[in-house]
Amino acid sequence: MVGTQWGDEGKGKFTDLLAKEMSMVVRYQGGHNAGHTLVVDDETFALQLVPSGVLYDHIEPVIGNGVVVDPFVLLAELDMLNRRGIDTRNLRVSGNAHLIMPYHQQLDALQERHLGKSKLGTTKRGIGPTYADKATRMGVRVQDLLDEQIFREKLAAALSHHNKVLTKVFNRLPVDPDGLADKILGECLEPLRPHIADTTDLIHTALESGQHVLFEGAQATFLDLDHGTYPFVTSSNPTAGGACAGTGVGPRHIDRVLGIAKAYVTRVGAGPFPTELFDDDGDKMVDIGHEYGTNTGRRRRPGWFDAVMLRHAVRLNSLTDLAITKLDVLDTFETVKVCVGYEIDGVRTDKLPYHQSDLHDAVPVYEELPGWRTDLSSATEPRHLPAAAHTYLELIQDQVGVPISLVSTGPGRTQFLHLS
Ligand code: IMP
Repeated sequence: MVGTQWGDEGKGKFTDLLAKEMSMVVRYQGGHNAGHTLVVDDETFALQLVPSGVLYDHIEPVIGNGVVVDPFVLLAELDMLNRRGIDTRNLRVSGNAHLIMPYHQQLDALQERHLGKSKLGTTKRGIGPTYADKATRMGVRVQDLLDEQIFREKLAAALSHHNKVLTKVFNRLPVDPDGLADKILGECLEPLRPHIADTTDLIHTALESGQHVLFEGAQATFLDLDHGTYPFVTSSNPTAGGACAGTGVGPRHIDRVLGIAKAYVTRVGAGPFPTELFDDDGDKMVDIGHEYGTNTGRRRRPGWFDAVMLRHAVRLNSLTDLAITKLDVLDTFETVKVCVGYEIDGVRTDKLPYHQSDLHDAVPVYEELPGWRTDLSSATEPRHLPAAAHTYLELIQDQVGVPISLVSTGPGRTQFLHLS
């Protein structure tokens, strides 16, 4: 399951729904920069790191090797879930996942501040610096916690570099490697120990015995480090291919790729956004859709549905079907718009431009449809949708070229319908 826009499409709800048919839900990239909100029996759960399937007793939630893990955040989240009566004993964390250290978060914030007006608008969770250390072979992995000597050596090696950056570039105090090692080993090792596992083996064993496994993407297609609007992206691969690298499963094991798209678009942080709205319609989307980050509280930038982006997302992810979320947010609009192409320097194109400067200059070409002006919050079957809502969904489906299988009409667990 992958996000097809710039994140915050409402993926958590569908993971939770699909979890019923699964025995394992696996996160494959990102970290606690994600924020998945689930509403169960009027109770709201905001998850950052633990896979959404954790709310089901029959699910084995797995944090794959491609995820970056802040051990303190993970333990705090498990504690929160336990206090609310959720059993988390069967959560498994890959020994190969990389650890987000406090200095990664400090560097993330300092780098953003250093960039000034050109800042990326990261979540300051240390995601970029942790993946950078992974790539430069300076990272510390979850399995290193199990070997104190190795853990201390790796931390000291990483800090011999990062302390130079902290003190000489950013004029900050150095971090004491031994003090940090003592704190992490003292506070995190024992509570994490029972969760650390060879998750690649666990997933393959589940698949070999015919079980269903759901790979839960965080962030989204256009925040992908390779395929997104670089540099305004996250530092991992949320696209479907990332599920293979981030878990150790080959592509032939994946037989369905569900794309999650919001009925309009939002983006947090900087970067190009052709259908962005700066008018009352945009404010209305933000107000009705509560478009403020689960994680950072930032106001999300709103815009109309962009079918050009979605067509590209279909290709990048081999999407088999789509789930449209938050259709109810558009209930009160007089008209609704779908961007079906762009005009760039007066020339019409139906494809996402290859050069990013062109994306900055792209003027959306819209198809405008009458709104349905009906409260959809209790629609649970296709026949409950007014004709105008069907027309809107059909336009999206025709433009994008894959069937819409699910539509969500509110935050609650039961507020959705199967379309095909
Ligand atoms: P980072 O992932 O914290 O490095 O942030 C990089 C970019 O990705 C920023 O524009 C963030 O706002 C965006 N981003 C990261 N995680 C999410 C998410 O879960 N939803 C939406 N945007 C996100």
